[in-house]
Amino acid sequence: MLTKKWKCTVCNYIHVGDNPPDKCPECDYGPEVFELLGEIELSTSPEEQKAIRNALFKIQYGLFMVGSAKDGKINGQICNTVFQITSSPVRVAVGINKNNLTHEHITASGSLSICILSDDCLDIVSRFGYNSGRNIDKFEGIEHSLTQLGNPVIKQSIAWFDCKVEKSIDLGSHTLFIVDVISAQDTGEQGATTYERYRELKNQDKEKATGDKWECVVCQHIHVGEKPPEKCPICKQGPEKFKKIG
Ligand SMILES: Cc1cc2nc3c(=O)[nH]c(=O)nc-3n(C[C@H](O)[C@H](O)[C@H](O)COP(=O)(O)O)c2cc1C
Repeated sequence: MLTKKWKCTVCNYIHVGDNPPDKCPECDYGPEVFELLGEIELSTSPEEQKAIRNALFKIQYGLFMVGSAKDGKINGQICNTVFQITSSPVRVAVGINKNNLTHEHITASGSLSICILSDDCLDIVSRFGYNSGRNIDKFEGIEHSLTQLGNPVIKQSIAWFDCKVEKSIDLGSHTLFIVDVISAQDTGEQGATTYERYRELKNQDKEKATGDKWECVVCQHIHVGEKPPEKCPICKQGPEKFKKIG
């Protein structure tokens, strides 16, 4: 049996079904942001697919900013797929989509940084998780420094690692980078946030704003006021990218 494969153009979430979903489960955008990737042979029923999707949402993750550099240009992206594999050597796995600029940087430099984020992460996730460094300088106005290997780390992180790529595993759409930790700093008192906590905070943020609410369709920044802003403070897009949400 054939069905269709769709990609959310905002967060790269992949949906399988005859139609795009009413709402992206990762970034909450509607069916209009989904692009058709093609038809695929369906080996499991739609009910089983749904059960798999729901079960996947019960896996817990941390939330990180992965920094990278190439030819003197720095970049960073949000990543939830970071986990420690071994203690000796200290080895971590990082899953990165091949379309991302971060992927290009890591492949070229053979290194990356990992910043652990706290609950105070909404603006950082909007800036680094919903824009590509191909379009904006994500570090503009963000306090940061460079590690020994030249990778950017943000002041707002509660700890960071500087890592060398030991092995790259090709997984189709993504590469799993197996990295060795070269140095680290424990920089903050706060605890680490989780992907689930971030989603809760994002929803609370949307609900608490009073007055007319405008959402930037690029980075999900919420603006409150009679009109959309001249420029999104997070991703620098103009007022035409804001939609009224309440
Ligand atoms: C909450 C959240 C989690 C994400 N997790 C991952 C991830 O694990 N791996 C990945 O490749 N992209 C992930 N992304 C998407 C990238 O951060 C996003 O595509 C980014 O714009 C890529 O930027 P770049 O092109 O500058 O590298 C995540 C985004 C968000 C908002």
